[in-house]
Amino acid sequence: MSATQSDSGSSEMSELNLLVKTIHMEAQGINSFELVDPEGGDLPSFEAGAHVDVHLPGGIVRSYSLAGNPMDKAKWVLGVLKEPKSKGGSIAMHEKVRVGEQLKLGAVRNLFSLAADAKHSILIAGGIGITPLKSMAHKLASEGKSFELHYCARSLKNIAFASELKEIVPEGRLHIHLDQGEPSKGLNIKALLENPQPGTHLYFCGPGGFMKACEESSSHWSKGTVHSEHFKAPEPVQSSIPDGSFEVYLAKSGVTVQVPPDQTIVRAIELTGRRVPTSCLSGLCGACKVEYSDGEVDHRDFILSDEEKKTCITVCVSRAKSKSLSLDL
Ligand code: FES
Repeated sequence: MSATQSDSGSSEMSELNLLVKTIHMEAQGINSFELVDPEGGDLPSFEAGAHVDVHLPGGIVRSYSLAGNPMDKAKWVLGVLKEPKSKGGSIAMHEKVRVGEQLKLGAVRNLFSLAADAKHSILIAGGIGITPLKSMAHKLASEGKSFELHYCARSLKNIAFASELKEIVPEGRLHIHLDQGEPSKGLNIKALLENPQPGTHLYFCGPGGFMKACEESSSHWSKGTVHSEHFKAPEPVQSSIPDGSFEVYLAKSGVTVQVPPDQTIVRAIELTGRRVPTSCLSGLCGACKVEYSDGEVDHRDFILSDEEKKTCITVCVSRAKSKSLSLDL
């Protein structure tokens, strides 16, 4: 994926150079990349649902979900769909990354964590949205926890990691839904989510229309039981507040930066020669999340919870409602 979600939580680690050990064609347009330590050492552990920044040829940085088994320290696995409208990331993964080369990986973040106290988990994947859910299936299965996985795709040739999923998911709990391109012939999401049971948590990831259907069908579920991750910004966020100018005070640097209407906060800061970590630049991944104070934020991201919005801002897309904002930078 690239990423968003509605939970909090992230874990960051320093950069790693990993060897591309294998590349497999998993499904039509989807390749998996198995990454290992070049010296054969253990890799850091990661949480189910996490994604990692990948530094690609051409200076592109993209976040992809870690689709492998979180308990497997020997390898990390990425699953990448070659997007027809790629801005360069998925094309670079498919056409430039080769077996035997090294890839630089940056921060690992998890904005899509499993709830520790769930009695049962329903995982629903749409297309390439299977990647974070597959790592969740590994984790839930290894702990003997109750779950079911619904995987929605156009046809069998679009199903990635098929044989592995059959091994991971307990018998009768893996449901493949093929719609041949007509969502009405696929999974009846509304019916599946109609009667939420106490202690059940829902996780979903997939393309825009699928996400909307899941969100609408679970709108009556209890707060905190629904978890989702967008891998693309759903739509440009229409703010009711016009893009005005404001200033941001970088509290750690003691510098004030003017942000004009046609610039993001990230860009305005970069123009002063300072760098803010970024990845998706779409309010999806959390790479640019910083704490703020002394101001009011026009939040335009897809990841921060209501609680986080009280103290944090994603500076790649969000802006200030107030004349100034103090950032912990
Ligand atoms: S949320 Fe990804 S760079 Fe800002």
